[in-house]
Amino acid sequence: MSSPRILLLNGPNLNMLGSREPKHYGSLSLVAIETNLRALAEKCGANLECFQANSEEKLINKIHESFQQIDFIIINPAAYTHTSVALRDALLAVAIPFVEVHLSNIHKREPFRHHSYFTDVAEGMICGLGAKGYEYAFQFAMEYLAKHA
Ligand code: DQA
Repeated sequence: MSSPRILLLNGPNLNMLGSREPKHYGSLSLVAIETNLRALAEKCGANLECFQANSEEKLINKIHESFQQIDFIIINPAAYTHTSVALRDALLAVAIPFVEVHLSNIHKREPFRHHSYFTDVAEGMICGLGAKGYEYAFQFAMEYLAKHA
């Protein structure tokens, strides 16, 4: 099998990780999270691309560009989790399997965070496990791709 191609997508305000509300999101920066995941990917022989954007349009365009180029997406849609039919539709349009990740436990927080436009079409959802959630999602992606090769 050729190297699995995995895309890590992070939505709005996640570029502020490290200093942003550490009680919810921890103290690791996005750069540190991406660096850890790149090291894991290299160890596993996977190609990992990382992309963060604050606008819905950029995230949607990135998903469209991934059509037939990417095998699996790990996405933290951030606030778009609770608002974006457009981002959900983009993921359905490219038909790339994905896992939804949240650093915080969205179900322990304000009621408006309890609903996600992604969970019912995701392979799975990880929340509340901090930055480790991205690593668990990556491990799942590798297992999923091995199984569906
Ligand atoms: C988040 C949870 C969202 O409710 C919030 O808007 C975020 C981050 C998380 O990772 O816990 O920006 O997706």
